[in-house]
Amino acid sequence: MGKQGVKRVTLAYSGGLDTSVIARWLIENYDCEVICFVADLGGRKLDSDFLREKAKNSGAKKVVIKDVKEEFVKDFILPALKANALYEGAYPMATSLGRPLIAKWLVEVAHQEKADAIAHGCTGKGNDQVRFEVAARALDPKLKILAPLREWELKTRDEEIEYAKRYKIPVTATKKSPYSIDQNIWGTSIECGILEDPWIEPPLDAYQDLFPIEKTPNRPEYIVIQFEKGVPIALNGVKMKTIRIIEKLNQIGTKHGIGRIDMVENRVVGIKSREIYEAPAAIILLNAHKQMESLTLDRETMHFKETIAPRYAELIYYGLWFTPLREALDAFVEKTQERVTGEIRLKLYKGNCIPVGRRSPYSLYSLALATYDIGDQFDHSSAKGFIDIFGLPSRVISAIEMKMKKR
Ligand code: ARG
Repeated sequence: MGKQGVKRVTLAYSGGLDTSVIARWLIENYDCEVICFVADLGGRKLDSDFLREKAKNSGAKKVVIKDVKEEFVKDFILPALKANALYEGAYPMATSLGRPLIAKWLVEVAHQEKADAIAHGCTGKGNDQVRFEVAARALDPKLKILAPLREWELKTRDEEIEYAKRYKIPVTATKKSPYSIDQNIWGTSIECGILEDPWIEPPLDAYQDLFPIEKTPNRPEYIVIQFEKGVPIALNGVKMKTIRIIEKLNQIGTKHGIGRIDMVENRVVGIKSREIYEAPAAIILLNAHKQMESLTLDRETMHFKETIAPRYAELIYYGLWFTPLREALDAFVEKTQERVTGEIRLKLYKGNCIPVGRRSPYSLYSLALATYDIGDQFDHSSAKGFIDIFGLPSRVISAIEMKMKKR
């Protein structure tokens, strides 16, 4: 037993056709035992009875289902929020952030179950294979990694269905969505089908929950988000766990059509792909957090922090979560959040999330300095000397240029 020394594998399992067929295929081709692992990262409710049953039908020896939502929020979403991480300025990276966490638990379960390999159902041209494997390598370089989709002979969905039938794996009768969807509490990623034409507007059935703008309420809704050291701690004056705030903002934002993202993005493997996302809570919180920072961070810290945000997002997107650079950047970001405390008021209306108010006990905004009305304490007379010196290089350059033109 055990091709290539693989005796037992933990498989990242979803209950879909791909991973169900993979379970059987691993047993047949590697002559090994398969332990299916399912991570619950929020979004849709998991049906654990269905998953257990389905995995067993595919030949799995054991099924491990783990709720990792709290860990996802605390160790992955919050650092990304504090860093204002958006890939290519737009995508809050629900999928990208979830992968290293799933990989961490795949490795953990492999250790618990004394497995010698892990397996996943990612294709050979996506980002997720990179994220799973780079993370798993960082956590345990000795574990073997199997990626059947890159290896097997099944070329089409129909061939997979044939294979499933041959091994009596029940193929769920529901009509297959024309899209490939990945969902968790930080957002939903949708690709494939008609979306592969970047000129075509996503049809109504493409967005999974988000209301079309045409169907959103005609009245705006105001919300207040309270932060403490960069962490959302209350919504509309009610203290609650960040995870609850995210869940609530997903509901509220969905209704107002907020967090709709339609982009062509650069994948790690070099391909450009068109993908759409819905991420109501992520977009609202990222927006609010940035506003909190503009009130409470000094200019130099804020501007420097802005330069590392895209870099931090790249690390997440590229699957480089378990790396020294990410840890070092986290330490920097954490330090900047010491006074990112206060409240942001937002107006939600027809797909827009508009900041309309902010306050903080650590506000660096000084009315006495900013006002154009009475009570102004800014020293206007010292502005002249400041500008003389600040503009000195420009004066010197200009003098040289004039001299050169005369020659
Ligand atoms: N492009 C996104 C990322 O790389 C999502 C990938 C998964 N998307 C999906 N629809 N299954 O993070």
